[in-house]
Amino acid sequence: MCGIVGYIGAREVTPLLIEGLKRLEYRGYDSAGVAVMLDGQIQVRKEAGKIAELEKSLEDEPVPGKYGIGHTRWATHGPPNNRNAHPHATEDGEFALVHNGIIENAGTLRKMLEGRGHVFSSETDTEVLVHLIEEVYEEGEGRAGESLERAVEAALSQVEGTYGIAVVSTRDPEKIVAARLGSPLLIGVGINGETFVASDAAAVIAQTRDVVYLDDGDMATITSEGYVVHRRGTGPVTRPVNRVDWDLDEVERGGYEHFMLKEIMEQPETLRETMRGRLLEDDGRVKLGGLEGMDEELGDAQRVIILGCGTSWHSGLIGEYMLEDIARIPTDVEYASEFRYRRPVVEPKTIAIAISQSGETADTLWAMREAKQQGATCLGIVNAVGSTIARETDAGIYLHAKPEIGVASTKAFTSQVEVLAMLTVHLGRLRGALTASRGREIVRALGQLPEQVAQILEMEPAIRELAEEYKDSPNFLYLGRGYNFPAALEGALKLKEISYIHAEGYPAAEMKHGPIALIDENMPVVVIAPKDAVYEKIKSNIEEVKARKGSVIAVITEGDTELLAFADHVIQIPRTHDALTPILATVPLQLLAYHIAVMRGCDVDQPMNLAK
Ligand code: M6R
Repeated sequence: MCGIVGYIGAREVTPLLIEGLKRLEYRGYDSAGVAVMLDGQIQVRKEAGKIAELEKSLEDEPVPGKYGIGHTRWATHGPPNNRNAHPHATEDGEFALVHNGIIENAGTLRKMLEGRGHVFSSETDTEVLVHLIEEVYEEGEGRAGESLERAVEAALSQVEGTYGIAVVSTRDPEKIVAARLGSPLLIGVGINGETFVASDAAAVIAQTRDVVYLDDGDMATITSEGYVVHRRGTGPVTRPVNRVDWDLDEVERGGYEHFMLKEIMEQPETLRETMRGRLLEDDGRVKLGGLEGMDEELGDAQRVIILGCGTSWHSGLIGEYMLEDIARIPTDVEYASEFRYRRPVVEPKTIAIAISQSGETADTLWAMREAKQQGATCLGIVNAVGSTIARETDAGIYLHAKPEIGVASTKAFTSQVEVLAMLTVHLGRLRGALTASRGREIVRALGQLPEQVAQILEMEPAIRELAEEYKDSPNFLYLGRGYNFPAALEGALKLKEISYIHAEGYPAAEMKHGPIALIDENMPVVVIAPKDAVYEKIKSNIEEVKARKGSVIAVITEGDTELLAFADHVIQIPRTHDALTPILATVPLQLLAYHIAVMRGCDVDQPMNLAK
């Protein structure tokens, strides 16, 4: 979280920084700022609030210059206000820095630096970095060849934590020094001596499609002559230049009021893209190019561990059901944030699957590294091409769902589940647990999903009416069983994160072990009850809710007259393979959450306290 952009070249820097920051606003939107170099002086301008506030301030009082750095913040240390906004500068204004990450030993460093006379002006962990760089620079001054990059490198050797940083200084001007460890950073290679640095390709795509992803431990010096990458502690390295293959309109709203709605509506297309060229229906198999050459390891695997956070963890849960039910491989799903800190045991012949839309979620990345270090073969199910998880896993499957900008994950979730279904078919066939005819059934059902989702999206007006009816409910319960228990969790998460309504997801049968106490006529209960293997069971759970006067909104299979008559409201979804029902069930719940949030006046793309 937090977005970084920097530019050096012949054009005016501030409009380029603002343009880049606007495309990164989904990474943080509580404050923003720029540091621009002009006539040997660093001018810092910061504003609390959204980037529009900063833009306005720069319009009223422009800051000219040919190079500089910018930042959009998602607060970790200290409340979102002007003082805590980045860039942070030293008292004499000779060094300025932007940072994404967390400095874990900030307290100790701050004490040491204060003891040496540095005066801090914010509550952030970041500010220690800029003072530390100044301190180290001053210690080294006088030594032949002292440079900003050497000071940054020496300062970083004292730092514990994660960072993507970009630094400028009047002492060593005409350059931006960047470094990363655990937070993404890339260089945008422009033309005519223009070079960018950014935390995300979205910030530079309007200017260049050629990007160089930095690895953890890399530093880069960016000047008007170009860029040089070197490893901290060693020397220069060459990193490949990658071509970004998506277009600017992928990170724009395309006529929709919100990114979230656009991303919900484009799911027929994204689901199609995720499967493109991968389904071999006649053989009842799939072709996953990213797993080529891995048949032996995958065929011999004794266990799968799925790692993820939030929505990606929910898709992982569905993956667990699929892999055990269909491919018959023992599978566990772990919150990445727990796995990485709890000294897990990773047995030989384990496949760890890291699921992440962004490919940059620190907990998922470090959990994956832990599994790898213990000998697991690591696969990634990732959307963002070239992201850290995608680069560090042994092999993987991209979602090809194009950038997801809405903070609430929608199209990434459905594509993740689709990829997990394809992976299940691949493993099931490889290991002999899935026959060709059952494989064909799943592959055929996968191929029908885009059309079925398009059909569900046509129900948007009816779902909006439902939203109108329930928008003022303070609580919601979401229930599901089997494959649709994780879909219930996902439905509840979508609602709570964008509408701030308290919502809980539960396995339907667990309701009677506690949450049933909450049910009365004021509690809407969303029950995902398609005609699948657990249909009869969930029907009795619905009876239990109705007996306590709860209002039931049931997601049912079209043509199910029984529940149609029994529930207060129904959302009908087409019939599909049991394992794929969560994809179809989730789409109307995304729309329900979206419309409720909009009706409550919430900012759905940039919800309170969250960022991507
Ligand atoms: O990029 P990732 O998939 O690793 O992100 C994981 C979660 O942070 C993310 O899914 C989060 O829960 C979203 N806000 C859900 O809508």
